[in-house]
Amino acid sequence: MSAPFQHTTVLLAEAIDSLLTTPDGVYVDGTFGRGGHARALLARLSAKGRVIAIDRDVAAVSAATVGDARVSDPRFSIHHTSFANLGTVLAAQGIARIAGLLLDLGVSSPQIDDPARGFSFRFDGPLDMRMDTTRGESAADFLARADERHITEVIRDYGEERFALQIAKALVARRESGNPVRTTGELAKLVAGAVRTREAGQDPATRTFQALRIFVNAELEELEQGLSAALELLAPGARLVVISFHSLEDRIVKTFIARESRHEVDRRAPFAPEKPHRLRAVARIKPSADEVRANPRARSAIMRVAERTDVGAAGGGPSAGPLPSRPASPRGTGRGTSADEGSK
Ligand SMILES: C[S@@+](CC[C@H](N)C(=O)[O-])C[C@H]1O[C@@H](n2cnc3c(N)ncnc32)[C@H](O)[C@@H]1O
Repeated sequence: MSAPFQHTTVLLAEAIDSLLTTPDGVYVDGTFGRGGHARALLARLSAKGRVIAIDRDVAAVSAATVGDARVSDPRFSIHHTSFANLGTVLAAQGIARIAGLLLDLGVSSPQIDDPARGFSFRFDGPLDMRMDTTRGESAADFLARADERHITEVIRDYGEERFALQIAKALVARRESGNPVRTTGELAKLVAGAVRTREAGQDPATRTFQALRIFVNAELEELEQGLSAALELLAPGARLVVISFHSLEDRIVKTFIARESRHEVDRRAPFAPEKPHRLRAVARIKPSADEVRANPRARSAIMRVAERTDVGAAGGGPSAGPLPSRPASPRGTGRGTSADEGSK
């Protein structure tokens, strides 16, 4: 039986070519989705190689573990948590250093295309938007309790929406009339009434939906934590590959790589030793015109690649993998008890 919602992997060959430095390494796919990247990576690894996958969506974890499309490969495991908890996931398995980390950010097509998940204004469904439906607050619950100022800030800062204040006022007025927004269709209609100028080729609700999704899932904070964790875990020569889909997340990745690639000199202490850099920027890659034609969802993708230097890195080369002496703890790799429930 084929899966009801399919995901077309973005920058598949480019990501794997950039990530792979040794076929014997331990790699982390921090955003498994439907496993397009993870499966291609497994196909390129030796019998010694491993792929440790992570996804915060229960549906992604079950796609990897149950049914015809599951990944039945002894070199593969998957963990239900955020990639921000990368260090905990690896420590629980006694792994101190990895040969590469891939983050293909944002939502998958199965998430967007399922009306029950509430990510899209194209279908009517409950206004949820949580990637991890086992915890946290849905977009509808946030809009039901937050004050006008907070709603304005979220829509303005995460959606870069000029009419954030007007949208927030309309939301609060509707709520105060005893009829809070509970569905994607209701929100899309309310936003269309509050946004006064239309951007060509874009639904007026696009920015508001993006903003709420980023906020509900703490996407930018999780990304910052994941990048910091990666720095501690990548072996010298190991690669960090991050695919972003909007400017807010790409800015975080770009700034992080630039900061960690710079020799810092303290101007107030010019004779102090330089702080050597922990990353080397390798590439910035966008999908080809052919890929965008075949998969329009790839159009905003930007992939950045960086390589870990040996400055302050966990020891060993990129092929270095599990440290056998560390005991594996069976549970509790994430925040909350169900964090590792999908592990196999
Ligand atoms: C664009 S899809 C990845 C698609 C995947 N590379 C493939 O080829 O099938 C993004 C996935 O990352 C997951 N995700 C997003 N942010 C995450 C986070 N902070 N931690 C773990 N998973 C996350 C989403 O649930 C979604 O399944």
